[in-house]
Amino acid sequence: MNPRFEETQFPIFEQGPAGRTEIAPGAVHVPGWLGPEERRELVAACRGWATGPVPIRRTRLPRGGVMSVRTVCVGWHWQPYRYTRVAEDVNGAAVAAFPDWMVALGRRALAAAYGDEAAAADYTPDTALINFYDGEATLGMHQDKDERSAAPVVSLSIGDTCVFRFGNTENRNRPWTDVELASGDLFVFGGPSRFAYHGVPRVRPGTGDPATGLATGRLNITMRVTGLPG
Ligand code: SIN
Ligand code: MN
Repeated sequence: MNPRFEETQFPIFEQGPAGRTEIAPGAVHVPGWLGPEERRELVAACRGWATGPVPIRRTRLPRGGVMSVRTVCVGWHWQPYRYTRVAEDVNGAAVAAFPDWMVALGRRALAAAYGDEAAAADYTPDTALINFYDGEATLGMHQDKDERSAAPVVSLSIGDTCVFRFGNTENRNRPWTDVELASGDLFVFGGPSRFAYHGVPRVRPGTGDPATGLATGRLNITMRVTGLPG
């Protein structure tokens, strides 16, 4: 048995037959998890959400900066540093509903990462942040901590490969592990890694597969459980 099994909250595979790699306890990378058709469908869905009701935009930060990634949300609208149903910082529109098919996708992702069907069946994400990275976009080291739930974050990547920096839960500095996230990759962080700092220091332009429908850039979808009432 995997010696780390006992130490972690979930049955995790160090490097299982399906190509799972445990980056840290509770943090699992599954390369190429999304099939070609699912990649195309996700790109098309995200393209639809990007046009509205709340259009994709660069998020303004409270101290006056602007993020380099472009973001659109479903289920709940995220703005620094809270979730709302109405995007009063963009156009005052109500955010698009979180679709049932995405809940099902999140559950399948959790099952693939942790091999725990019961935990997967219990997982009900209610928000997704969809980030689009052009060749210059980066994301600084941060924690996902605006949720009132410690349920795992499910991350799906399509398009250009990036360097995903997965750090520790104490601060934004080392130790960290750099993981190449390519098109179709799944990354789940939960359990002891749920509040680990992470970021994207670099995208590798031209490494994506245009057959996904995304000619350039990188798309990342992170599903979360907000823990907020209905
Ligand atoms: C995020 O931290 O919200 C996005 C991570 C990524 O783009 O891979
Ligand atoms: Mn994050």
